[in-house]
Amino acid sequence: MLMATASGKIILLGEHAVVYGQPAIAVPFRALQATAMVAARDSAPVWIEAPDLERRYRLDAASPGDPLALAVRNAAQRLRLPLHGLVITVRSTLPVASGLGSGAAVCTALVRALAEFAGQTLVPDEVSAIVYESEKLLHGTPSGIDNTVIAHDRPVFFIKGQGPLPLAVVRPYTFLVADTGVPSPTRHVVADVRAAATRQPERYQPLFAEIGATVRAARALMTGEAEGELGPLLTRNHALLRELEVSSEALDTLVVAAVSAGALGAKLSGGGRGGNMIALVDDDSVEAVRAALQGSGAKAVYQTDFGDD
Ligand code: MEV
Repeated sequence: MLMATASGKIILLGEHAVVYGQPAIAVPFRALQATAMVAARDSAPVWIEAPDLERRYRLDAASPGDPLALAVRNAAQRLRLPLHGLVITVRSTLPVASGLGSGAAVCTALVRALAEFAGQTLVPDEVSAIVYESEKLLHGTPSGIDNTVIAHDRPVFFIKGQGPLPLAVVRPYTFLVADTGVPSPTRHVVADVRAAATRQPERYQPLFAEIGATVRAARALMTGEAEGELGPLLTRNHALLRELEVSSEALDTLVVAAVSAGALGAKLSGGGRGGNMIALVDDDSVEAVRAALQGSGAKAVYQTDFGDD
């Protein structure tokens, strides 16, 4: 039996505007992971098992819209792996529809496990391209940021169609990630933003452009090209996401609670309308912000550090 894992992701800045060509910054979220196992069986069919979702089905009976089945087929084709006599089991500790990249993480773990099983190496760009096809089934019109950051497993500055651009983060950052516990499929929110942006381009295009400017300013700070504070840029990005109408009362409550308790900045992360928010903290504020989030309705609070490795 061969096994592989993939981390989730958090979008630090730029979600939604990234679908329209603006840049975004995302980092791996290692606190939660997806795992895939591939085992050989004598019997002919390929089975996909997802015990967390209480699902077990044959590949040849999967619906055309099944993202896992598409990832298996595309990976097998790339690896020239005959599709018979396999049991593929996927598990994940990432909550679904919560902005943490659960769909892309499960597909990435699965593609990596199939490559291991075939005794081959797929470079991150190849894994990302295969997972992107499944993301289209999951998200409708994805920018590609989730599959890119998860397959490359490092912080990325991302512009749609350009692959990951270098993001050499020069100082450590600590974020708390808080879950509203409200599932919110990204596909629906992305479709709503598209409909609104089509109806009112004069309102939405400047918002997308301002989000893009915020992301560029954040990159300059994170890479040491400019001096300044990242936190206010995050909070400004949240205000712009509210104007795009992708926030929610639960998300706004957690953002206000975090900032009031001393977070350097806070915002929703991912598709919005539910799912998760992030708060930038330092050693002095981390425990007070964690307590404030827990006391303001967060169903789970995680900590993630990056930038010092
Ligand atoms: C989803 O993780 C991020 C969105 O910007 C959608 C996308 O980029 O595909 C909301």
